[in-house]
Amino acid sequence: MDNDQITTRSQIKNDLDPQEMLRVIFDYAAKIANERVLENVLMLMADMGREMIVSDRCTVWLLDKSKNELWSKVAHGLDEIRIPSTAGLVGYAVTHDKAVFIDDAYTNEQYKTYLLNGALRTDQQTGYRTKALMVIPFRDSQGEIMGAYQAINKLTECQQFSDKDMEYLTLASSYAGKSLESALLTNEIEATQKEIIFRMGEIGESRSKETGNHVKRVAEYSYILARGLGMSMEESELLKIASPMHDIGKVAIPDSVLNKPGKLTDEEFKLMQNHTVIGYNLLKNSNRHILKTAAVVAYEHHEKWNGRGYPRGIKGEDIHIYGRITAIADVFDALGSERVYKKAWDLDRILQLFTEERGEHFDPQVVDVFFEQLPAILHAREQYADSALEDSADVQ
Ligand SMILES: [Fe+2]
Ligand SMILES: [Fe+2]
Repeated sequence: MDNDQITTRSQIKNDLDPQEMLRVIFDYAAKIANERVLENVLMLMADMGREMIVSDRCTVWLLDKSKNELWSKVAHGLDEIRIPSTAGLVGYAVTHDKAVFIDDAYTNEQYKTYLLNGALRTDQQTGYRTKALMVIPFRDSQGEIMGAYQAINKLTECQQFSDKDMEYLTLASSYAGKSLESALLTNEIEATQKEIIFRMGEIGESRSKETGNHVKRVAEYSYILARGLGMSMEESELLKIASPMHDIGKVAIPDSVLNKPGKLTDEEFKLMQNHTVIGYNLLKNSNRHILKTAAVVAYEHHEKWNGRGYPRGIKGEDIHIYGRITAIADVFDALGSERVYKKAWDLDRILQLFTEERGEHFDPQVVDVFFEQLPAILHAREQYADSALEDSADVQ
């Protein structure tokens, strides 16, 4: 392959004149400032960079320090790409805090090893011809390197990136930096919230020696049931995040009761039942959607359709739909899992029970959806099986 192929494939363009440059900057700066979704910010930044310096391709890479990885999003709908933070030319630029220019990747000697691992290998797989390459690290407001711009193939006649191009990309990253940082922060906060909720749920369960993936599976089943009942994706997702907290109130139940091998006395059973009320009281005063949902789930997951559940003995549709869904999800998983005090039930026996308890313990409509969605539910059960856990030795 040679230079001609680049010039014939993409027509030769000119660098932007100052007016065009301003238009691009204004256009994108406004769009980016209004964007809260991280992946959209990344893609807008990439488009902005590509237009400013007239390159064929442009990618924005972010440094994930917790994992020592660089990641990027190249297109909507596609998964993110992740590479070790020292890999390829981007890794080199980020770890050495150095901008890299290459006029022709195929003849460059200085960065040959990085190129062989990166651009050249990709070319082999895709048939693309990388010629000019530029990588510019950029910093956050604390001055720490947070990622890099990578541009491939200059579409002007000279086919090479210049110092001016570097300045433009640096400019682009400084325009986008604030939005990028705030989108990153939002992302981090949301991920942290989900994780905390999940961990709290695990605490409740581990106190009662539930198996490792129980809360994960209950979350998945709840989501499938909610969707099957016609709930929106958002609401189903909400329930999925909140349902792992159903037993959070168990943190306050004494071990002697929680893990008693034999039958509980009436008094102990009363105490045990109280985990629903305790969980509810822990969560109910929050204004947060997720925690409010979790409060309902904690309070009502032991209520029964026929009114014979606890703590309040409410019945039918007086029980919140979140409670009715989680009840099925929780019981299905508990019966199917082995415990210190019992073997796992086989599937037929569980399904038999659900048929019998349709309209008794469980909301008949949710039971119907459960049977409709059984393939998806069994798939989730397999996906989050306890045997898939590495530390299965901890599992009872
Ligand atoms: Fe419970
Ligand atoms: Fe549970």
